Amino acid sequence: MFNFFKKKKEEVKPSAFLPLKVREVVRETPDTVSIYFEQPEPYLDYKPGQFLTVVMDVEGKEQRRSYSLCTSPFVDAFPGISVKKVPNGIFSNFLNEKVFPGKTLNVVKPMGNFTTEFHSKNRRHFFLIAGGSGITPIMGLLKSVLVNEPQSRVTLIYASRNEEQIIFKNQLELLEKGNPDRLKTIHVLSQPSAEWTGLSGRISKEMLHELFAQAEYEPRYEEVYFMCGPDGIMETAQHVLAELNVEKERIHRESFFSAAAYQAHEDALKGISNGILTRDVTIELEGESHVVTVPPGKTVLEAGLESGLNMPYSCQSGLCTACRGRVLQGQVKMDEDAGLSEKELAAGYVLCCVSRPLTDDIKITIE
Ligand SMILES: Cc1cc2nc3c(=O)[nH]c(=O)nc-3n(C[C@H](O)[C@H](O)[C@H](O)COP(=O)(O)OP(=O)(O)OC[C@H]3O[C@@H](n4cnc5c(N)ncnc54)[C@H](O)[C@@H]3O)c2cc1C
Ligand code: FES
Repeated sequence: MFNFFKKKKEEVKPSAFLPLKVREVVRETPDTVSIYFEQPEPYLDYKPGQFLTVVMDVEGKEQRRSYSLCTSPFVDAFPGISVKKVPNGIFSNFLNEKVFPGKTLNVVKPMGNFTTEFHSKNRRHFFLIAGGSGITPIMGLLKSVLVNEPQSRVTLIYASRNEEQIIFKNQLELLEKGNPDRLKTIHVLSQPSAEWTGLSGRISKEMLHELFAQAEYEPRYEEVYFMCGPDGIMETAQHVLAELNVEKERIHRESFFSAAAYQAHEDALKGISNGILTRDVTIELEGESHVVTVPPGKTVLEAGLESGLNMPYSCQSGLCTACRGRVLQGQVKMDEDAGLSEKELAAGYVLCCVSRPLTDDIKITIE
């Protein structure tokens, strides 16, 4: 049995975590719940599309997972997250089955760049592409656009397995009814029932090309693209947008899972070092320099945390950028760099949670 919340008081850094009291738990689908929290004092400050980091004690060790806020600070009185079960997943199963109103969850304050600024003068066409639980941050963005930008419109392309698995089905229907000229939702089901009359199958390049073409491009609208879902859907969408010559600055993506980071972690557990040697790394944190020895099988973040450094982090998969640092000297190898833009990579930014040392003289500053 896992031993949640059994950490000794003195080991917990109270200032780092925000306790959020669960107000309501809504079952969205057989394997997804939305958890809404009471507003803390002061109110939770977040941007639509950002994520919270849930912190729990699992068998005596602090663990963290990122969960996108499904709510909009401009629309919803209470902040919420939606969590889909992953087979054998520790947090996702716990949050689905063991969380009830009145319970308190410790979180790290909202973070993330999967967001945008809103202005009433904007005239934008948001293409939102979501798969499964990837609808979560998209939902917060969608509601925020509709309320903040009266001249903007939204096309949501949302892939689910079947009718039963559509998260926020009713909410989406209501929003569409309330905004018939500004919101169009296109569901794509991979395994629909015989009664389904909508699109079916996997989202393919051909399907996306056709959907984008049908969405009536108009020069007076600035098109922006936000996508969140399984790798397959994101890669397909990226290819199509590249074929359509859409500028990278208009494309925003959020990933929930990195197969590359997972594989590197598995290798480390099996003692496969992939040529990495034990090296000392200097970490500059909060104005102080610390020398940390990073052995093969550990990332810079893992070694730093084990040495007692209070380094920031969330997903530990190279996706969320919470652990971002800048290499001032030396070279690291990253298992995954999907969270960083080309500009950030060129400027020497790295993600400590997936960084392994390649040289002896590494100096990283956490800004
Ligand atoms: C920025 C960000 C935002 C996120 N937002 C959400 C959200 O809004 N809703 C949500 O449900 N999840 C979200 N996630 C994913 C979430 O953080 C966890 O990774 C997920 O809930 C699984 O955690 P777990 O403890 O249950 O599984 P673990 O115990 O960590 O993993 C169990 C097994 O499942 C595999 N696995 C873990 N995650 C996945 C996955 N996504 N797909 C396939 N296999 C997987 C693991 O490799 C492992 O074998 C987000 C992740 C990131 C990085
Ligand atoms: S902790 Fe999320 S990218 Fe490193």
